[in-house]
This record gives sequence, structure tokens and C-alpha cells, in this order.
Amino acid sequence: MAMAMAMAMGMAACGRYKGVPAATGRRSFLLLLLAICSALSATIPPAAGYGLEEFLAALNNESLVYHEVQGDVVLNASLPAITGRNFTLVGRAPRGKRPVIDGASKHGGGSYSLSLTLKNLEFRNFNGSGSIFGALGHDIVILDCVFINNRVVGVLSGSVVSVQGGSLKISDCLFVNNRVEGGGYGRGGAVSTTFSSDTVIERTVFRSNEVMGTRGTGEGGAISVSAATYRISECVFEGNKVDGYGGAMAATFASRGEILRSSFLRNSAYSTRSGWKRYATGGAIDIYGEDVTIISACTFRENKAEGRRGGAVSLSMYQAEATISGCKFEKNAAGRYGGAVGARLVPTGLVEGPRGIYLEDRGPPRSRAKFCRGNTYSGNLAGKSGANNIYVDMRNSSASGVSFCPTRPPLALIEAAPGVVIISCASC
Ligand SMILES: *[C@@H]1O[C@H](CO)[C@@H](O)[C@H](O)[C@H]1NC(C)=O
Ligand SMILES: *[C@@H]1O[C@H](CO)[C@@H](O)[C@H](O)[C@H]1NC(C)=O
Ligand SMILES: *[C@@H]1O[C@H](CO)[C@@H](O)[C@H](O)[C@H]1NC(C)=O
Ligand SMILES: *[C@@H]1O[C@H](CO)[C@@H](O)[C@H](O)[C@H]1NC(C)=O
Ligand SMILES: *[C@@H]1O[C@H](CO)[C@@H](O)[C@H](O)[C@H]1NC(C)=O
Repeated sequence: MAMAMAMAMGMAACGRYKGVPAATGRRSFLLLLLAICSALSATIPPAAGYGLEEFLAALNNESLVYHEVQGDVVLNASLPAITGRNFTLVGRAPRGKRPVIDGASKHGGGSYSLSLTLKNLEFRNFNGSGSIFGALGHDIVILDCVFINNRVVGVLSGSVVSVQGGSLKISDCLFVNNRVEGGGYGRGGAVSTTFSSDTVIERTVFRSNEVMGTRGTGEGGAISVSAATYRISECVFEGNKVDGYGGAMAATFASRGEILRSSFLRNSAYSTRSGWKRYATGGAIDIYGEDVTIISACTFRENKAEGRRGGAVSLSMYQAEATISGCKFEKNAAGRYGGAVGARLVPTGLVEGPRGIYLEDRGPPRSRAKFCRGNTYSGNLAGKSGANNIYVDMRNSSASGVSFCPTRPPLALIEAAPGVVIISCASC
């Protein structure tokens, strides 16, 4: 990864971590508060049942590494910082109910832990200026959780979770109507990772999440992954939107990305800045400068990119290999090229509308797009270009190519030297 790119991205992503060094001061304040509270609780009998008091006491108690949330909680302030230990928070309420932590539409998150594990909890109505959970250099695991109606306002990533430099695992969760309401910039309507070692998301539903108000610069309506490896499997992305690129997800500078056995339905990329409408690419998925991409056994239906390219999937490739197999593309639409898939070569340095990209200079572009067995296309649209299904732009690069196995589908426009279009299953 080129330093220039790394620094530019680091700076963009670090803005919101300014508050971290203050944690020590805040912690002693909380300990003081806790001391006062426990002094009070010595004289007042404890309220029956589990509530806010028990919840906050657990979060603020640095010698506690595991806590069971036994009932619903409505917050009276933003979540305190969870610091000083790896922490596991598990919902275990009577009658098997999943406990709800409610932000009351006015409180936010912004807690930084060491490693954090969440299980069987619901977080709703958070409204703040930072992700509910953020980790800097640590790991987050989220199992069996629900996130509904959460929003962050500002220049931000990930309304629910944002991980920088750690790993993220999400299994069996539901994310509905979570939003980043951006200022100049915003990424990952629900989830964002940057410089992460690994991002794994499985058996999870993302519905109606959005990055909005970003004037064409947003990335990933539900998920944004940057400079990480990732694997997304058995997920459903439905009705997510971005004011920018990647209606459901955007991935940039990943060394390896896999998207397997997932469905992408009615996601869309648009731009509220009229001059940048053409850059609203990747109605479902926008992938930029990724080395290895595998998209397999997925369904893409009625996704839409207002911009030039990639009604369902947009691939901007440098020295990359992308393999698409066993996917169904139905009624997706791009403004101009590649109603289902639009792929093109990018150089190492490029400014394109909202994006300034600097990839490590490894010589001229050298990429391969492989359309392997089992892809089907129907009812896809792409302006008047005729590239309703596929568009590949690999002009001027004899080191790049596209292959179709076993045959080239109809309505595929390939701009490349004749010799680089191969009809073969050899590389699949
Ligand atoms: C919130 O509730 C807790 C527990 O009842 C209490 O200790 C705390 O002072 C309250 N905080 C605010 C900001 O009202
Ligand atoms: C913090 O948790 C520890 C471990 O469970 C417990 O022994 C201690 O009493 C708790 N402290 C407070 C102030 O609640
Ligand atoms: C937290 O967990 C990590 C492994 O995920 C471990 O390396 C680290 O020592 C733990 N830290 C504490 C304070 O327990
Ligand atoms: C979120 O909080 C802000 C104030 O910080 C308020 O103006 C806004 O209406 C709230 N949004 C929702 C959806 O409650
Ligand atoms: C390809 O090469 C031709 C002739 O050298 C040049 O005019 C054109 O701009 C190049 N196209 C791209 C996309 O680089």
C-alpha cells in the first residue's frame, strides 16, 4: 500500500478519534461518579429489576470483563467509554427476550474499548456524532444482534460500528434503517472498517441503511471496507442507498475480497451534486483498486446506479483479478454502461470527481476480469450504450484481458484490443 494513499486515508478516517486521549480524565470522572452512586446506593434500597443503573455500572466497572444485560435500558446520556479491558456484553433477559438498549433519539455512542464482543442485544434510536461502537487497533465481534434506527450526523463512518486497524466479525445480525448523515464526507451507513486485518460478515441482513447528505462523496450505503481483506457470505442487502458510490457496499484498496451466496435487492447509488452524478457508480457494489475479488453465487435484482457504470457491480481495476461466477443479474440499471457489471482499468494516480486515488505504483495496469460459469442476465439496462449487461473498458493495455466461460453473453460491450478477449473456461 502506498504511503501517500495510506496517509490521505488515515487523515480522513482519523478526524473522529480526536476524543480518545481525553478518556483518562473522563474515566476518573466516571469512577468518582460511581463512588458517589455506590455511596448513595448504600442508603437507598436498590430498585427492583434490571435497568439503566445496572447497565451503566457494568460499563463503567473496569474490573468487569463480562456482563449480562437482563432487561431493556433507555439511556439518559451517550454511552460511556468502555475502557481498560476486553469486554463482552451479552443479552439474557427473562423469557428469552432480546434486551433493547435505546438511545432515546438523542444519545450517541462513541465508546472505545479494547476488544469488544456483543451478543443477543438490540440497539435502537441512537442519535449522536460517533458510531455506537468504535475500535482503534482492536477487534469487535457482534453475534445475534439487531440495530435499528440509529444515526450519526457529521463527517463520519459507520453509524453502528467503525473499526480501524482491528478485525471485525458480524454473524447472524440485522441492520435496519441506520444512517450516516454526512457533512462533507461519510462512509458505511451501518458498518465501516479501515486498515483492518480482516472483516467477516455472515448470515446478516442489511435493509434500508443509508449514507446521505454527502453531495456525491459517500461510500457504501450499508458497509464500507477500506484497506482490509473481507469475506461477506450468506447476507441480504435490500434497499440500501448512498449519496455517492456503492449503494450497498464500497470496498477500496482491499488485497482480497470475497462476496459469496448473498442477495442484493433494490440498492442504489445517486448523487445530490449534479456535476458528480456520473460518478455515482455501483448500484449494489463498488470496488476500487482491489487485488483479488471473488463474487460467487449471488443474486442482484433491481439495483440502480445513477452514474455511468455498474448498475449492480462496478469494478475499477489496477493490477487486479476479478472473478464472477454463478450470479444472477436481473433488472439492474446503470446510467450509461454495464447495467449488470461495469469494469474498467484505472491508473495508479487518479482524481475522479469525489475520489482522489493513489495506489502504489507497480507499473501500468494489468488486470483480468473473468466471467465464469453460471452467470445469467435478464432485463438489465444501461442508457443507450447497448452495454445493458456488461461493459469492460481495458483500452490500451495488452497486459489486461477479459474472459467469458463458456460463452460471451449478449449485450456486452468490450473496449479492448481484440486479442485480450478470451472465450475459455481455462482460467475459471
Ligand atoms: C443517568 O442515570 C443514572 C442511573 O440512574 C444516574 O446515575 C446518572 O446520574 C444519570 N445521568 C444523567 C446525565 O442524568
Ligand atoms: C466491579 O466488578 C467487580 C467484579 O465483578 C466487582 O467485584 C466489584 O464490586 C464491581 N465494582 C463496583 C463499584 O460495582
Ligand atoms: C485483549 O484481548 C487480546 C486478544 O484479542 C489480548 O491480546 C489482550 O492481551 C487482551 N487485553 C486485556 C487487557 O485483557
Ligand atoms: C438527533 O439529535 C439532534 C440534536 O442533536 C436533533 O436535532 C435531531 O432531530 C435528532 N434526530 C432524530 C431523528 O431524533
Ligand atoms: C489509448 O491510446 C490512444 C492512442 O494512443 C489514445 O488516443 C487514447 O487516449 C488512449 N485511451 C486511453 C483510455 O488511455
